[in-house]
Amino acid sequence: MKVAIIGCGGMGAVHARVASLAGFRVVACGDVIRAKAESLANRIGAEATDDCLGLIRKEGIDIVAITTPTPQHVPFVIAAAEAGKHVFCEKPLGRTVEECQEAVRVAQKHRVKLYVGHVVRFFQEFERIRSVVLSGRIGKVGFVKTYRGGIFPRGEGLWFRDYAQSGGVTLDTIIHDFDWIRYMWGDPKRVFCQALLRGDIIDYSLVTLRMKNDVLAHVIGTWAHPGGFRVKVEVCGDKGMVGYDSNEAPIESMKRESAGGQPGMIVPGSPVPVSPYQLEWEDFRAWLEGKTSPRVTAEDAVWAVKISLAALESAKTKEPVVFN
Ligand SMILES: NC(=O)c1ccc[n+]([C@@H]2O[C@H](COP(=O)([O-])OP(=O)(O)OC[C@H]3O[C@@H](n4cnc5c(N)ncnc54)[C@H](O)[C@@H]3O)[C@@H](O)[C@H]2O)c1
Repeated sequence: MKVAIIGCGGMGAVHARVASLAGFRVVACGDVIRAKAESLANRIGAEATDDCLGLIRKEGIDIVAITTPTPQHVPFVIAAAEAGKHVFCEKPLGRTVEECQEAVRVAQKHRVKLYVGHVVRFFQEFERIRSVVLSGRIGKVGFVKTYRGGIFPRGEGLWFRDYAQSGGVTLDTIIHDFDWIRYMWGDPKRVFCQALLRGDIIDYSLVTLRMKNDVLAHVIGTWAHPGGFRVKVEVCGDKGMVGYDSNEAPIESMKRESAGGQPGMIVPGSPVPVSPYQLEWEDFRAWLEGKTSPRVTAEDAVWAVKISLAALESAKTKEPVVFN
């Protein structure tokens, strides 16, 4: 199956590599900045273009991988679906819930598969915690605490600093934890957030989620941390606790992914044999081949955006947001 990458920055480079490792052929790279498309294409032996819509519609492309800044995700998902191409899209699926729902509707209408990269479901540390919780060893879970953050990301043209595009740490980064928590404990019934924003250099967000099954989750996201990237998770049940801290057990290595010497985003890597990003593509592949259901559904991706945007709304109003 032949893949075209749209958006050849940090994550474009990651997905070009792991999609190949998962058995796909990455044959084309598109970017609004032609030099970035060429830089990635030259490294992997693919063709390059700055005509991304033309590339999406081109015959012979089976899958479009969308790794542009967030506001461009949905327009490209829709263009790909209308061209009959399956889609891999980085999280967040979109910038608003309505446009995410539209993307899902168009993908369904054109019978293409839409896979969204909620990669934490594939991190081995999180999978280990999941298996301990599901085994019942820590009993009935009452509390979950997560922390995820590092330095303020840059991205091409510093787009992460434009909150209208990135949604800050609350939409861009701790959406990973919202998705994982929902994967583990189902839908939330209430979200509350307090966020600290200072211009373009600090973003710190504390979100509490009361889940419908009464688990209480406490999620911190920061782009205000001067050091490297850190992830922590702790789950407390009535028989015990399980947790992970990337600083105490640094099985992750961090690197700043870049394309063509341009600044990028810190991306957690992992020295375990198979990268979680590759596992996403293997899961997508199994779904494309009709062997399994996807671990992340498009509806899951819409929910993750819904929770993140509810948190941002709560930070603004200083009131909790209640889901029906
Ligand atoms: N899953 C993860 O671990 C993870 C980590 C970092 C970023 N992300 C997500 O990946 C996406 C990309 O982030 P990034 O860090 O790679 O950003 P980046 O700025 O490094 O790369 C984005 C690329 O898209 C290109 N681009 C911008 N507008 C375009 C357009 N209209 N058409 C074609 N190309 C366009 C830019 O020139 C740039 O090369 C974001 O949605 C981000 O939230 C996910």
